[in-house]
Amino acid sequence: MCGIVGYIGKREACPILIDGLKRLEYRGYDSAGIAVLNCGGIDIRKSIGKLKALECAIEGCAPKGTVGIGHTRWATHGRPSDENAHPHSDCSGQITVVHNGIIENYAELKSRLIAEGHAFASETDTEVAAHLIEQYYDGDLAKAVRSAARELEGSFALVVIARDEPDHIVAARRHSPLVIGLGEGECFLASDVAAFLKHTRRVIYVDDDNIVVVSRGGVGIFDLAGNPIDKEVSLVDWDAAMAERGGYEHFMLKEIHEQPRALRETMRGRLSSELDRVDLPGMNLSDEDIRRINRIVMIACGTAYHASMVGKYAIEELCRIPVEIDVASELRYRNPIIDDQTLAIVISQSGETIDTIVGLREAKEKGAKTLAITNVVGSMAARESDGVLYTYAGPEIAVASTKAYTTQLMVVYLIALYLAQIRGTLDPSRAAQLRAGLWELPGQAELILNDYSEVKRAAERYYCFNGFLYMARGINLASALEGALKIKEIAYIHAEGYAAGEMKHGPIAMIDPTFATIAIAVKSKTYDKILSNIKEVKARSGEVIAIANSHDTVIEDYADRIIRVPETEEILSPVLVAIPLQLMAYYVALGRSPNVDQPRNLAKTVTVE
Ligand code: AGP
Repeated sequence: MCGIVGYIGKREACPILIDGLKRLEYRGYDSAGIAVLNCGGIDIRKSIGKLKALECAIEGCAPKGTVGIGHTRWATHGRPSDENAHPHSDCSGQITVVHNGIIENYAELKSRLIAEGHAFASETDTEVAAHLIEQYYDGDLAKAVRSAARELEGSFALVVIARDEPDHIVAARRHSPLVIGLGEGECFLASDVAAFLKHTRRVIYVDDDNIVVVSRGGVGIFDLAGNPIDKEVSLVDWDAAMAERGGYEHFMLKEIHEQPRALRETMRGRLSSELDRVDLPGMNLSDEDIRRINRIVMIACGTAYHASMVGKYAIEELCRIPVEIDVASELRYRNPIIDDQTLAIVISQSGETIDTIVGLREAKEKGAKTLAITNVVGSMAARESDGVLYTYAGPEIAVASTKAYTTQLMVVYLIALYLAQIRGTLDPSRAAQLRAGLWELPGQAELILNDYSEVKRAAERYYCFNGFLYMARGINLASALEGALKIKEIAYIHAEGYAAGEMKHGPIAMIDPTFATIAIAVKSKTYDKILSNIKEVKARSGEVIAIANSHDTVIEDYADRIIRVPETEEILSPVLVAIPLQLMAYYVALGRSPNVDQPRNLAKTVTVE
């Protein structure tokens, strides 16, 4: 996820672009750049690092001109660097673009363009768009962008300027957000309204496969065939801070709601659209390497450790490879059994958690092949592992991890299916069932997010309780631990995640009317057992909130409250179960914690031991 801006009007573009990018830095901050069009051509300035670095670089020598585009990057293809920073240009310097999204077919397009003589200066997928537009450009930028957009696959919000067309900016959108701001004799383009809200509240939201032409006099919007489209003008009533959070009160709630998109982006290009196979070139393992693996060790901390718990269940069930998981801070002190037939998988949203990095180094020293699952391109985990599979969740600002967690689950499922595909350990019909189940998850997540009134009602009752017990069986034990961690870290309430079968070995002594139990009771081979565990809690005057499937009527005779999620394969259910538990923690915290996004004593990335 990156932030893009564009401006055309009567004022100097540079300060407007920089100010707009400042309000979009939450969308990415590993490099930034602007391009301003003036009589001398297109003046491009860009630098690695946060926007501040770019501001310092242009201080006293800002590019002059009243038309420009800008970008703040969250790297997906190509590590953070000056060369990979946007904007990107074609060979001739005629076309300059900024882009938010992932051009899935960039590799084949790049090969074709190179074969046709184009010279590339970066590793990014975005630069392909600049050269493709160049190829079609014959003096009509809008037409060239339309032609290029028809060839691009994946997600994009592109904003484009041409040296010889100083009186307009062209943009195109598919799956990545793009909004137009309408001023007096000036127009704005951005990833979201936060970038230009101080200048205008009149906006037009651009839809998929719209081509936009903005000039000082107004806006034209067209379909890919060039037919004009009428769009209504909306009035934004958020303030700028709310706009940065997409209108949500906290980044955590915004990021919870981003999960369907994040899941789709993480799956895109890895699960074939025909749902007939999984491809994971990022693993950087040959089929022979994969067949030689006789053990997997997963290393992580906190929420990422809970993702590794799900990974253990999934890989052992589908691939029949023994998987050992351990919190990184423990693994490194117990001389783990790792050799050259071990695959070590580290999971880390930030890719910088020092305990996890040290665990990774220990595994490498012992000869393991290493694979990182991380959300940050160019992070230490990514750089120091043999292979890397990125989650495409976009920047996660809230300390409490939500979209990073569910996209980590998506990646571990893809790994399990891929390893099983190569090792032939999974019945083809079962594999097809699971691939279809994965494909459905983003839409099912949307259903949960469309109505979670029952979660809000539960939180209103339970936010003042003394503690929570999250109990589950099987793969959802990870969900129980993750749900407990969420409520601990943002609501500061004691909470335990526990194997439900262990209740009678101690924890049931805690149950009383002020201690709420959350039972994960989705369809599973141990469903009847969890019903018995709920009965045990009820018999001791404990209140039970069940996370159950949409059409489950049996649960109604057991639990006090039921929060429902769509039915999916048991092995995939942690993705859906996670969402109401995140929301429960959030709404319980609202009543108790003054700062949900930055809870006390915590940091987003723990780079110290
Ligand atoms: C999760 O909500 C916490 N913020 C924390 O447990 C986090 O998951 C842990 O610090 C690991 O961080 P990483 O994924 O960046 O390595």
